[in-house]
Amino acid sequence: MTKLFSKFELKSMELKNRIVMPPMCMYTAEDGIAGDWHFVHYTTRAVGGVGLIIFEATGVESRGRITDRDLGLWKDEQVEGLRRVVEACQKQGAKVGIQLGHAGRKSEVLSEPSIAPSPIAFSEKYRVPVEMTKEDIKTVTTAFREAARRADQAGFDTIEIHAAHGYLISEFLSPLTNKRTDEYGGSEENRARFLKEILQEIKTVWSKEKPIIVRVSAEDYAEGGNHDDNMASILNALKKEGIDLVNVSSGAVVNITMKVYPGYQTKFAETIKNSTQLSVITGGLITSPLMAEEILQNERADFIFLGRELLRNPYWPLQAAKELNEELEWPVQYTRAK
Ligand SMILES: Cc1cc2nc3c(=O)[nH]c(=O)nc-3n(C[C@H](O)[C@H](O)[C@H](O)COP(=O)(O)O)c2cc1C
Repeated sequence: MTKLFSKFELKSMELKNRIVMPPMCMYTAEDGIAGDWHFVHYTTRAVGGVGLIIFEATGVESRGRITDRDLGLWKDEQVEGLRRVVEACQKQGAKVGIQLGHAGRKSEVLSEPSIAPSPIAFSEKYRVPVEMTKEDIKTVTTAFREAARRADQAGFDTIEIHAAHGYLISEFLSPLTNKRTDEYGGSEENRARFLKEILQEIKTVWSKEKPIIVRVSAEDYAEGGNHDDNMASILNALKKEGIDLVNVSSGAVVNITMKVYPGYQTKFAETIKNSTQLSVITGGLITSPLMAEEILQNERADFIFLGRELLRNPYWPLQAAKELNEELEWPVQYTRAK
């Protein structure tokens, strides 16, 4: 029995394997509403055998979208489109999550000002964001809660809070983007306060039985920024607020080029797993079933995400099973192709 195709229980969510589709923006929504593209795109990966599908970054506020074609959950009208896709994926045996996010200073929605912990632009191509007041902070934490409530209505098995890649929560976490002098800036504890308050708000509406995932950038790749040990320390302080799984990514906090190679983020996942005892998802240019199996067998991570590989090949799990000599049930309609 391979580890890649072994089950994993996370609260009430039982996953059939360790293969995760990470959130990937499709920039195809109208007014934040999921349509036919989302239906085909996500359901195809469910048919392909992915255990956990995490829907793309979804704005908790309209000014919190990366672009005006992002998915949204800032109003009730956006629930129905998602519910249709969620149900179809679940019928194929996949568990389904959604990444709730706020783009902060990286929002390209020009009809509204962008907001951030501090008024520093990401690059000359971006606007200088408006520094958030405490009232703004409350508005956004409440928006995360309301989006989580809607995600529950849409039937999602889990939610992922987007605290990575230099978007709003990540901007609070990193000393490179957070220059505040109030209780939301400075020490690690202060920089983590915004995320802590978001978790606390979400817990008032999100079922205790359903897991919460947090995605982080474990490495800023810049002097004075966060590194994996800082991020582990932040997660250790926050885990009692209800973090069940960490999706470990890196970078995009400041405008630098990263050196990437297969598994480039797995060492960060290992640090976070070992220091926090939380379950972790790793990925980053992983395409080989054997490499995925090695990482899991050596307990360097609990799940493997495959992003671009699943865009190229939605049936990767079915093919990986063959390569690892794992007997897998195929969708009955496709059995003649097995
Ligand atoms: C088209 C595309 C859209 C993405 N959108 C998101 C997103 O919405 N949220 C997120 O956290 N990461 C996003 N990412 C990053 C992926 O989740 C993943 O971390 C990255 O592609 C590296 O994994 P890979 O080498 O397996 O593709 C996106 C990546 C791609 C290629």
